[in-house]
Amino acid sequence: MTEGVQPRGRAAGKRVLITGAARGMGRSHAVRLAEEGADLILIDICESLPGIEYPLSSPDDLAETARLVQKHNRRAITKIVDIRDSDAMTAAVDDGVQQLGGLDAAVANAGVLTAGTWDTTTPDDWRIVVDVNLIGTWNTCAAALPHMVEHGGSLVNISSAAAIKGTPLHIPYTASKLGVVGMSKALANELAAHNVRVNTVHPTGVATGMAPESLFALLGEKRPDLAPLFGNAMPVPLVETVDISNAVLYLVSDESRYVTGLEFKVDAGVTLK
Ligand SMILES: NC(=O)c1ccc[n+]([C@@H]2O[C@H](COP(=O)([O-])OP(=O)(O)OC[C@H]3O[C@@H](n4cnc5c(N)ncnc54)[C@H](O)[C@@H]3O)[C@@H](O)[C@H]2O)c1
Repeated sequence: MTEGVQPRGRAAGKRVLITGAARGMGRSHAVRLAEEGADLILIDICESLPGIEYPLSSPDDLAETARLVQKHNRRAITKIVDIRDSDAMTAAVDDGVQQLGGLDAAVANAGVLTAGTWDTTTPDDWRIVVDVNLIGTWNTCAAALPHMVEHGGSLVNISSAAAIKGTPLHIPYTASKLGVVGMSKALANELAAHNVRVNTVHPTGVATGMAPESLFALLGEKRPDLAPLFGNAMPVPLVETVDISNAVLYLVSDESRYVTGLEFKVDAGVTLK
């Protein structure tokens, strides 16, 4: 707890909600924003989900993100919540906002990925991916917005280069991430009058825990012809989490005060090819 320490930086004094904050890019966004003076509400499910083949985060992961934020003398309020549960999201965000005294931005970052060819993709794959990536992102926006419509704010919804490219072998994921774009643009139109900005971020591949073995097997064995679609134009196989966090920081900060409805690619050119 670091109440009273005067924040400095590009996000000084901002109070920011981040979902999927326990590890990977969510943790990186939290640390980068804390470095620049933000206080944070950190949400994660902190348990694995049936139907998702790789493990999700643990409570220790979320506590470690909070520790890293507090090292920068910023506040971190942690909440273990499934973003699919709209009531629980509203309660957690309301409580976090009350503790911080307001909310200036939300980063809807939590997401999941299933892999498979078109003929092995099941309705259950669709349900879990759309439920988390699209409805969960909506629940995050809906929980944050009542705290923003009076004084303005910034919603940053994490999509993917896959949405722009039409990346195969995870069709529900690609569709859900394009759904996030439609939702964000419609919200951007509806909320512009309230000075609430809504933008999407589109990362290329980043090395995180989101690594389903079956995707690598499909690319290696069943559909190696599709592997080039995953290659970046620039000579880097994967970018780093901080490369995405720097885009998030810009969109949270007042540097982007008239930027809304943007699809912000951080994709090393993967969508150019
Ligand atoms: N890693 C990549 O290559 C890549 C590329 C483009 C976009 N993205 C997107 O970036 C975002 C972050 O992904 P990451 O790579 O850090 O993955 P990750 O799996 O390491 O982190 C995702 C976090 O979200 C949490 N989470 C998942 N379902 C949740 C739920 N229902 N409720 C609350 N929390 C939940 C997980 O526990 C985990 O901590 C995701 O939206 C992902 O789709 C990732």
